[in-house]
Amino acid sequence: MRLDKFIGHTSDLSRRDIHRAIKRGEVMINGAAAPSPSLSVSAQDQITLQGRPLAAPTLRYFMLHKPAGVLSARTDAHQPCVLDLIDTPRKDTLQIVGRLDKDTTGLLLLTDDGQWNHRITSPRSACAKVYEVATADVITADAVERFAKGILLKNDSTPTRPATLELLGERRARVTLQEGRYHQVKRMFAATGNRVTELHRTGIGNIVLDPQLSPGDFRPLTAEEIAHV
Ligand code: URA
Repeated sequence: MRLDKFIGHTSDLSRRDIHRAIKRGEVMINGAAAPSPSLSVSAQDQITLQGRPLAAPTLRYFMLHKPAGVLSARTDAHQPCVLDLIDTPRKDTLQIVGRLDKDTTGLLLLTDDGQWNHRITSPRSACAKVYEVATADVITADAVERFAKGILLKNDSTPTRPATLELLGERRARVTLQEGRYHQVKRMFAATGNRVTELHRTGIGNIVLDPQLSPGDFRPLTAEEIAHV
């Protein structure tokens, strides 16, 4: 892990203050002044900040029940953001794992483990994302087939990967995607001549939105959830 990230995970200093401390020679690694914020360090290194030893960082993993009307962003000058809902220290090191539209509700993951985030969001890993959808018009059998075959969406160069569309009612369905393109569910329904009126994510890999969480609530993931995405 980079030295500046290591310090960010283990102290309340901002990125700017960390860089300043390194420049001033206030950060020591194994007894020598740290030369650069980008230096790669590990849990075995003895790192001190202004003479105080820093413990190796523990990585954090949360699930949030995202309410409608909140941006999947860190901060915004005018609108509420998901990080405003997470009451925990060192929020600035948390990454949002795959964004949801402002009006989409449901399961959103946050972590400061960049590799875990990458495993979930990388197109190569084809991690399943499950959504419940309500639509303006009746969902046709043709739509089920088109989702299964893959749809070439406007402005995309390749068709979507095969997706599962299970009917739960005339205008309700469960959609399982193996990828996460921009506005993907809405664009896929639009391509079939329909319109999404409600969109709610219930699962990512083996992690299911905890029914005990009300919109706006969050909790840490269990060790099992972290291991089995
Ligand atoms: N697909 C969408 O269209 N919107 C989301 O928020 C997530 C998936």
